[in-house]
Amino acid sequence: MTKVVVENTLPIKIFEEGNDYLDGVFAPVDKEITAWDMTVIGEIPRDLDGCYIRNGHNPILPPASGRYHWFDGDSMIHATTFENGMAVYRNRMVLTAGLLNELEAGRGLYPGLRDGFEAEEGLKNNAGTDVVLHNGEFKTMFSRCGQPYRLDADTLATLGPDSFGGQWTKGVSAHSKVDENTGELIFFNYSFNSAPFMEYGVVGADNQLKHVTEIALPGPRLPHDCWITENYTIVHDFPLYWDPELLKLRKKKLTFNRDLPSRYGVIPRYGSGDQIRWFEGVPGYMLHTVNAWEDGDEIVAFGYRQLEPVPHVPMDTPRVKTPNYFLSFTYTQPRLVEYRFNLRTGACSEREVDDACMEMPGINNRYLGRKNRFSFNTHVADEPFFLASGVQKFDYERMTEVGAYRLPAGKFMGQPVFAPSADAKAEDDGYLVAYVSDAKESEVYIWDARDVSAGPLARVQLPQRVPGGSHAYWGRGEDIRKGRAAKALAA
Ligand SMILES: [Fe+2]
Repeated sequence: MTKVVVENTLPIKIFEEGNDYLDGVFAPVDKEITAWDMTVIGEIPRDLDGCYIRNGHNPILPPASGRYHWFDGDSMIHATTFENGMAVYRNRMVLTAGLLNELEAGRGLYPGLRDGFEAEEGLKNNAGTDVVLHNGEFKTMFSRCGQPYRLDADTLATLGPDSFGGQWTKGVSAHSKVDENTGELIFFNYSFNSAPFMEYGVVGADNQLKHVTEIALPGPRLPHDCWITENYTIVHDFPLYWDPELLKLRKKKLTFNRDLPSRYGVIPRYGSGDQIRWFEGVPGYMLHTVNAWEDGDEIVAFGYRQLEPVPHVPMDTPRVKTPNYFLSFTYTQPRLVEYRFNLRTGACSEREVDDACMEMPGINNRYLGRKNRFSFNTHVADEPFFLASGVQKFDYERMTEVGAYRLPAGKFMGQPVFAPSADAKAEDDGYLVAYVSDAKESEVYIWDARDVSAGPLARVQLPQRVPGGSHAYWGRGEDIRKGRAAKALAA
């Protein structure tokens, strides 16, 4: 019998007629709960040990203008902790400074992404895009940059904004990366209104700022992700940005400059901005990278390239009221591409390696920045929203799909995470974990990562819906326990 404790009821007041990102599978939930002893179809593997945490937007109050964009919503994390064949589910708001201000005022105080030029300078850092485990704490991050928010890895309570030991208050972008092999957090930060428009840094395993430098971009840009290898970081400068002439008039219009190259900047992990080497590639845009590693003179990198980042969408398509750059993968049609950046010759080559429309990949995070063989990519659903309808296992040695699982009709998932089994010998010895939802209910699916085609080993039935969301992370039990022990020692 499922046990549920309602921890808190949220004063949700957001509403906007016709906004699909406030309805159905995306509708915010109004209760923070803790649940255990949930019904399981199948059996939870006994060696599944750690915490599957997923970030997502769960808006409470509307933006000051009333025009809600999905990326404006406050962060709610949905965490399921597994140990000894049992699961505990918790969902918690991330109590950002902006959200606390609004709750105190009882109304939305900030502009949103659908507002004009001025909004860019006053966005609320909602910390709702991405999440990682670093220094024994979960950290949630915002795609338009801001200080990460620290969460207790056991209780998931918000501990406050992270300044890396008081040394960095300017913030970081979502998709700053944790190198689990060194414990470092490698970050980039970009800015709308002040040169050099990008900064790059490294935070040690002890959460102290270790390195920071400026990277000069030609103007304000919209990088979303980056790659890391053992010795380098690769940052992005795509020809998708605000029209600079209109910016001078304090107006913003996102333009894809299809005659300009995509640029990839390779910088040594502890390098300075003047050491960066730019490689030029096919015009396009990328939201998410998969992985990268060093191979002789070359860096090999995989990511989802969009050749039409601002596609034409027919006017009679039932649409959410969102600006152009927030078009779902259904329209931007990302494809998996292999890049090779030759550090000796300066050459950049790229080739599409899969013709399926996929995105939101997950890998075994111990291989991030190292040569790996597999990723778990999600099928872009045939829906005009950011939703996935299944998962694909892709093999980078054979350069082909080696497994796939399609969800039942009407069910959607987001980014899956990989969790290793207890005595894992191979990269894919372990499990794939993801929330699967429709407009009414949700389950946690657990697949054997060696054979996703066989369908889930277990489905944990949650007592509350998990709305469609953003990024996810697997916090290994051993890493969480190590962080807990270090904290106890320090106290
Ligand atoms: Fe993202």
